[in-house]
Amino acid sequence: MTPDRASAEERRLRSLVARHDRWRGREVFNLLASENAVSRTARRYLSSDLAGRYTLPVALPGQGETVDNGYTGTRYTDAIETLANGAAARLFHGRYATTRPLSGHIAALAALVPLVPRGGRIVAIPPEHGGYDGYAPGYLPAMLGYTVRPLPASGPGYTVRAEEAAATIAVERPDAVVLGQSFVLFPYPLRAIADAAHEVGALVLYDASHVFGLIAGGEFQDPLREGADVVYGSTHKSLPGPQGGLLVTDREDLFRQIDGSLLWRVLDNAHWHRIAALGQTLLELERVGPDYARTVVANSRALGAALAEDGVPLRAGPAGYSASHQLLIDGEAMHARYGLRPGPLARRLERERLLIDLVGRIGTAEVSRLGLTPKEMPRLASLLVRGGLRGERVGPEVRRWRSEYRGLRFA
Ligand SMILES: Cc1ncc(COP(=O)(O)O)c(C=O)c1O
Repeated sequence: MTPDRASAEERRLRSLVARHDRWRGREVFNLLASENAVSRTARRYLSSDLAGRYTLPVALPGQGETVDNGYTGTRYTDAIETLANGAAARLFHGRYATTRPLSGHIAALAALVPLVPRGGRIVAIPPEHGGYDGYAPGYLPAMLGYTVRPLPASGPGYTVRAEEAAATIAVERPDAVVLGQSFVLFPYPLRAIADAAHEVGALVLYDASHVFGLIAGGEFQDPLREGADVVYGSTHKSLPGPQGGLLVTDREDLFRQIDGSLLWRVLDNAHWHRIAALGQTLLELERVGPDYARTVVANSRALGAALAEDGVPLRAGPAGYSASHQLLIDGEAMHARYGLRPGPLARRLERERLLIDLVGRIGTAEVSRLGLTPKEMPRLASLLVRGGLRGERVGPEVRRWRSEYRGLRFA
């Protein structure tokens, strides 16, 4: 083997990446609720020189308290970060923002580690009510030494009700109330929850991982203005940015603690190519966010109605199916009616170039970015039903239709 020629494995890797890009970028409709398409400019920044760089503050040896960047060559990274943080603060209506967290899970750590001491108590929505697994007893709480008690979310929409939440908070007297779900259809009665939490001295931490893009566009709800103390989450679900996390608060005292504990407790280098790409996404959303978020929610409702009309059992029909980018299949009802569970349904649809997850969520964020509108939802519903429930070979038709959508809207 000559060292300056690509090895067989390198060529295979190149081919796999190219095939992945073609398949996911041109040949399927992606309805995964946890994903989105990153704008062309943001993608360019992701592969910029920033991808390999460091910038970290250090105390200078022999110079007392002096803190400086430990690396040279960083003359542009601070300004990039300032732009990204500024856009995040403006979009989510807080004075302090950090785009350093490497993901939604890391953003949760960034808030919890400094704000809830070891031995503390949180209430969070349990996974069986649509909550995020990370807040279940064996995961973040076990790692951080917390007790976690359930904040109930009930009914077909996994809805958090004000009186029930207030009663739970009054009984549990937690250090923090953690809102946010992985299966999320409707906003929270946040003012009532915040009042109940603040009454017992608890902080309200709002995990917006799934709904950040909707919040950015003025849909769903406005966590900091409605009483949350900190809002944080992923930047790549309804928010169409690179994989990553961010956190915003209006409280200087909390931000000092959060910012002060990020370095070396939660993370080391913050990945500057990601922060540049996220900055670009947030700046794009300042221009087009409202239009984008409105379209996403309108598509969810239209797709929900069309699927239901075609016989797909969905949760929360009487409430209009959704106020988010998600629709939730009623797995039990579908099994009773068609003998099919969400997992096998998703595998069947994958073969037909339609991607949903195996836990019964259907997301409309990425197809909205492609340019689909409520007008197209009946056609999309019909393909999902024919390919998923009836086992028809709709893949070729999906591929032809998909090829009509080049580029991204709202970017
Ligand atoms: C509510 C919620 N919080 C946090 C996370 C973790 O996000 P990430 O994958 O960006 O770490 C998820 C992931 O799905 C989530 O649904």
